Amino acid sequence: MKNIGIDIVKLERFRSFLENERKYSRILSEKERRIFESFTSPQRRLEYLAGRFAAKEAIIKAVSASGIRFDYVELSVLNDEKGAPYLESEKLKSFEILLSIAHTEDDAIAIALLK
Ligand SMILES: CC(C)(COP(=O)(O)OP(=O)(O)OC[C@H]1O[C@@H](n2cnc3c(N)ncnc32)[C@H](O)[C@@H]1OP(=O)(O)O)[C@@H](O)C(=O)NCCC(=O)NCCS
Repeated sequence: MKNIGIDIVKLERFRSFLENERKYSRILSEKERRIFESFTSPQRRLEYLAGRFAAKEAIIKAVSASGIRFDYVELSVLNDEKGAPYLESEKLKSFEILLSIAHTEDDAIAIALLK
């Protein structure tokens, strides 16, 4: 069944996560963690983390009717060669999900479309 999900978060909410591996490892998959840890700019880390969180919450909304349960770390929101986000997930492999993420200095927003 087609569906849509959206989420918006304040970047500030994730400030305390930046230097706390235990905290950011509950949100990011291993692949995402490696990318996150490669960023040296705290602002880029913050928007990356908040953007991933928003994308995953949007996905939860989009697939909620399916009853499938998963943890954030079971989803990888990666970027293609043009920078566009896409989902990699064994758990949700039977779904076709389109993603879009944007951030400002203060907020991150994401939308997930279940086709
Ligand atoms: C893509 C673009 C519109 C992003 O706009 P922006 O105002 O800088 O940033 P926003 O906050 O709105 O969006 C950032 C998010 O857009 C997404 N994004 C980046 N490139 C994208 C693309 N080509 N298509 C779709 N989404 C894209 C990413 O998810 C990114 O967040 P993330 O890196 O944390 O995952 C802008 O960078 C652009 O016009 N780039 C030039 C076009 C292009 O394709 N460049 C790549 C050359 S191969």
